[in-house]
Amino acid sequence: MEEKVVKIKPTEIPAFISWWQGGSRYEENVAEDGITLNLTFQGNALYGDKIWEQLYPNIKIKYISSEEIFGNNKPLNLEIGIGNGEFLANMAAYKAEENFLGVEVFKKIFKLAEKRANKNQFGNIKIIQFDAALILRLMKEDSLSNVYVNFPDPWPKKKHKRRRLLKPDFMQLIVSRLKKGGFMQIATDHDDYAEEINENLKEVQGIKSIYDTPFVRKVEDYFPTKYYRKFVQEEGAYFFRYEKI
Ligand SMILES: C[S@@+](CC[C@H](N)C(=O)[O-])C[C@H]1O[C@@H](n2cnc3c(N)ncnc32)[C@H](O)[C@@H]1O
Repeated sequence: MEEKVVKIKPTEIPAFISWWQGGSRYEENVAEDGITLNLTFQGNALYGDKIWEQLYPNIKIKYISSEEIFGNNKPLNLEIGIGNGEFLANMAAYKAEENFLGVEVFKKIFKLAEKRANKNQFGNIKIIQFDAALILRLMKEDSLSNVYVNFPDPWPKKKHKRRRLLKPDFMQLIVSRLKKGGFMQIATDHDDYAEEINENLKEVQGIKSIYDTPFVRKVEDYFPTKYYRKFVQEEGAYFFRYEKI
């Protein structure tokens, strides 16, 4: 009898999928004995279509390493929601001895980031157009140096708040992938989201603020992004930087 293989079509999945199914999507899809995801980067970019064609319902995928992505074992940093890739490009030039992986779900804006990433002279940027919830899960525990989330979508309407990315479980997932001493940096300009992040962080285990306070309004070592320039007022943004202990 002919075996029927059913592939998941990207069109069947809502655009913002991390919050869908309570953010637990992909939990079952990652395992040590899974298949190796074929990372067919073109230049420095990998489009989601190339990932979707490898995803079947209930398929298990193996963890991926810095070696598989960059061909070396330099420290690996991750940025979630890179937008046009400006911050990633600046960080990669600033820390040329480290690797920078960026994830962005939106294809249109990813194309802008692709142009930037392909101009990188240090061979230390790779970007993937996919939901960060899967890519993060594909990273081994205790493997990332730092993780950056700059200006996550604030979803300002009350009925949309549940779509916010930085729920306690998602932040705990980030922390599980960080190495001890590595940090998770979050920047937002949005008062209500900052308040929620502050509350949610209290539920995350094994981290402490690197500052004397839960957040600061200005930092020296930050490269302003499009959103920073557009929305941040004189008093500064909210910067959370929590170290894994
Ligand atoms: C407000 S923009 C900020 C972009 C950039 N970080 C900046 O500061 O200019 C948030 C970005 O996160 C992306 N994003 C939201 N959810 C995501 C997810 N689950 N995985 C990857 N990217 C995501 C959005 O598509 C959007 O480009």
